[in-house]
Amino acid sequence: MDMLIFKLEKNSKKPLYEQLYMGMKDAITHKQIEVGTKLPSKRKLADFLNISQTTVEIAYGQLLAEGYIASKPRIGFFVEEIEELPFIESKQPKKIIETRKNENEPYPYNFHPGKIDTESFPFAIWRKYAKDLFDFPSKEYLQVGEPQGEYELRTEIANYLYQSRGIICDPEQIVIGSGTEHLLPMILRLIETNSKIALENPGYSAIPRIHLANKAVPISVDEDGLIVDELEKTDANIVYITPSHQFPTGAVLSAARRTQLLNWASKAANRYILEDDYDSEFRHIGKPIPALQGMDQNEKVIYLSTFTKSLMPSLRVAYFVLPPALLQSYQEIFSYYSATVPRFDQHILANFMKDGHFSKHLNRMRKIYRKKHDKLIHTLESFYPNISITGDHAGMHILISVPLAKLEHELKQIANENGIAVYPVSDYLLKPIDYDQPTFLLGYGGVALEDIEPAIHKLMTCWGINRNTKKGKSHKL
Ligand SMILES: Cc1ncc(COP(=O)(O)O)c(C=O)c1O
Repeated sequence: MDMLIFKLEKNSKKPLYEQLYMGMKDAITHKQIEVGTKLPSKRKLADFLNISQTTVEIAYGQLLAEGYIASKPRIGFFVEEIEELPFIESKQPKKIIETRKNENEPYPYNFHPGKIDTESFPFAIWRKYAKDLFDFPSKEYLQVGEPQGEYELRTEIANYLYQSRGIICDPEQIVIGSGTEHLLPMILRLIETNSKIALENPGYSAIPRIHLANKAVPISVDEDGLIVDELEKTDANIVYITPSHQFPTGAVLSAARRTQLLNWASKAANRYILEDDYDSEFRHIGKPIPALQGMDQNEKVIYLSTFTKSLMPSLRVAYFVLPPALLQSYQEIFSYYSATVPRFDQHILANFMKDGHFSKHLNRMRKIYRKKHDKLIHTLESFYPNISITGDHAGMHILISVPLAKLEHELKQIANENGIAVYPVSDYLLKPIDYDQPTFLLGYGGVALEDIEPAIHKLMTCWGINRNTKKGKSHKL
């Protein structure tokens, strides 16, 4: 073989043997050195390139290990046959899809409904539980845990659900995972045999994206929640619903509709209700609304909830409660999947709950969100009846409607240009609804108490809505 010239840089950070190995590998894969060619001896190549024999030896060793060359004892090294990698020529220049940026950050006033109050998180207590786990090394937590999630955390969740949501369940029925959107496909896989899913319209916008394959059926929502009459007229066998606090309208599923829905589910073996209890912890008026699961006699409700609002969205801990009849299928399909939440995080949370800090935190947050809620309503009241509000009984957002002859997205743009992020209800529609007036979600969880009034005044000014000197109420619900 003619001696190949390899560009070796002695001052490079890359070791010489690696440069030589890369150069030779490149020459072999690009067929610059023919198959079967005998390579120069280590000494010859070392002399030619003015490098040490050890450098050549390491490079040859690596090529040998990876199968680019073969050694024939006492004869030398020969280039092996390597199949070329296919190269599919594309007319389009390669484009790297940019990572989706968090569009919620740049606004001084952000009314995103998913934001929480970050000033009130009990960092010191959380840190203590984290520190305890690492100070007294829990070596077994380095190994993979139970697929359904840590038993200790499932026990705490079961206790919490019993005390706060009227749900009687065993820790064995609970499955923990890193967020509702990751758990939903699991549930659908579990119950799906040619299933058709009905969704609330408006509703949680991630669901149709998760479940595009089977074309979801939109069901309207009114002041009493999902219209079950409408569901009954469809061929859907699964319904996803937020009965305690409809997202995003805030409606509570009425008692009559609850029984109607449970009866609908009991009429066929493949019918199920997915109850998402998101945002049910913070009710500002009246008593908490019990979960639908607690009324279910026929094992038809799969209950889902999350710590996203009650603790923090970044924790990524959500869970579902399976009816006992589905446990066996769950184990058959999913026992090979590991839990998606790190064991250490699960134990921090379990210990935090066990010592009563979760209930304390919820009580504290209820007061904080209540104050923000009252401040928001009070500020908006001075604009009645030029605006109207709905869905203000629970949760961490309300809906406001404004009598303006502009599209929601134009109004959103104007608000954004003034440093305020608001969220049009049309972003949550599976099927268009003709609202009389542009309507927006205003989440107040992430806006500081003292910012609420100036933010609303700024919003109303930029939209050209005047304050009303005469007081009057304008609630739709
Ligand atoms: C109804 C509903 N459920 C669940 C979630 C998200 O829950 P997680 O953070 O556990 O994925 C949202 C978020 O907007 C939601 O609107």
